[in-house]
Amino acid sequence: MANIGNEVQFKVYQNMSDPDPDRLPVIYEEWKERARQVLEDGPYYYVAGGAGGEQTMEANREAFNQWKIVPRMLRNVENRDLTVMLFGETYESPLMHAPIGVQSIIHPDGEIASAKAAAAMGVPYIASSASTAPMEEIAKVMGDAPKWFQLYWNRDPEVTASFLKRAEKAGYSAVVVTLDTPMMAWREFDLKNVYLPFLAGEGVGNYLSDPAFCSKLTHSPKEDPAATIMHWTKTFGNPSLTWSDLSFIKEQTSLPIVLKGVLHPDDAQMAVEQGMDGIIVSNHGGRQVDGAIGALDALVDICEVLHHQIPVLFDGGIRRGADVIKALSLGADAVLIGRPCMYGLAAAGETGVREVLQNLLADVDLTMALAGETSVRALNRSILKGAN
Ligand code: FNR
Repeated sequence: MANIGNEVQFKVYQNMSDPDPDRLPVIYEEWKERARQVLEDGPYYYVAGGAGGEQTMEANREAFNQWKIVPRMLRNVENRDLTVMLFGETYESPLMHAPIGVQSIIHPDGEIASAKAAAAMGVPYIASSASTAPMEEIAKVMGDAPKWFQLYWNRDPEVTASFLKRAEKAGYSAVVVTLDTPMMAWREFDLKNVYLPFLAGEGVGNYLSDPAFCSKLTHSPKEDPAATIMHWTKTFGNPSLTWSDLSFIKEQTSLPIVLKGVLHPDDAQMAVEQGMDGIIVSNHGGRQVDGAIGALDALVDICEVLHHQIPVLFDGGIRRGADVIKALSLGADAVLIGRPCMYGLAAAGETGVREVLQNLLADVDLTMALAGETSVRALNRSILKGAN
C-alpha cells in the first residue's frame, strides 16, 4: 500500500492514448448518479436518504467545510506510511468498510461482494448484524483478511449472546456495538415509498440462521416466514438498555468492544469508565436523529476530553481523501466509509467497491503527501485551520 496514490494515478494515465470507454467513475457524485440510474426508488432512497429533513446529513458535510488544510512544503514526502494500530493489530490503512445492512437490495451479491472487495484492498470489513448473508458466509469469503462484527443488541439476550459467540467463532477480531438504533428513525423517503426491506426478508440472514432466534419461533422460518419476520420486528431493538447493561456484552465476548454512535463527550467518557476498548463517533450517516450535530463537530468535542485514553474512530460524510485527512488530523485513529462503497456496489458490484476503496486510498495518500505529511498516525491539527 506504500505510495498507492502514485501507483493508481500511473495506472490510469498509462492508458491515455486508448482509454476504456466503459471505465468506471472516479468522481463520487458520478458513482451516486450511476446508483440512482440502476436502483428503484425504494432501495435508492433507503441508502441515500436520511432521517427527517436530512439536516444531519447536511451538517456532516458542513462540518468538513469548516476546516481547511494548510499544506507545508519541503518536508521530504517521498515515502508515506498509511498504517494504523488498533487493539494490538496493525492495519494497512486508516480506512474501514462501515457496517451496512441489507446490501442485497442494491446488488444481488450484496455483502459477499463488498467483503471480497474490502479483503482485496486490505480494508477491514465490518459485517452488520443486519446483513442478508449470514456472518459465517461473509467471514468465509474473506479468509484471513481483517474483519470486525457489528452487533445490533437484540431484545432477547440469548440472541445477543449467540451473535457474539458466532462472531468470535467465525474469526471476527472486534465487536462494534451500535447504540444509536434502538428503533428505526423517522425516515421520510422510506415512509413515502412504503419501503422497509426487512419485511421482505432482506437483511435478516443472521437471524434466520441463529439457533437462539429460531428456538423462539413456533414454526421454522421456512414454514412460517411472516411470523418469523413479525418476531424479528418485536425483538430487533432494545430501547430499555442503559450503560450498566454493557457488562453483559463484556461477559459474552473476549474480543475488543467498540461503541458506535457516540456523539456527546460525556458519553465518550462513560465508554471509558465502562471499560470499553474504543468508540466510533457517528450519527449513523444522518439516518437516526434529524437536526443532530455534524459528526466531525462531535469528533472535535470528544477528542478534547478523551485525550487518547481509548481509540476514537469516526464516520459520517467522508467522500474524498481530504475528508479522511481532516478527520485523522482532528484526532480520529481510523475512519469508516459508508455510502461511497454502497454506490460502488450498486453500480458495479465487487469491482465497484474495490474501485471506490482503491481510489479513496490513493486520494488519501496523495493529499497527505501534498499537505507535507508522511504518516497518517502523525497527523494532527497543525495542518488544519478552523473557519472561525
Ligand atoms: C448504515 N449504517 C449502519 N450502521 C450500523 O452500525 N449497522 C448497520 O447495519 C448500518 N446499516 C446502514 C445501512 C445504510 C444503507 C447506510 C447508508 C448506513 C451506518 C454506517 O455504518 C455509517 O455510520 C454511515 O454510513 C456513515 O455515513 P456516510 O459517510 O455513509 O454518509
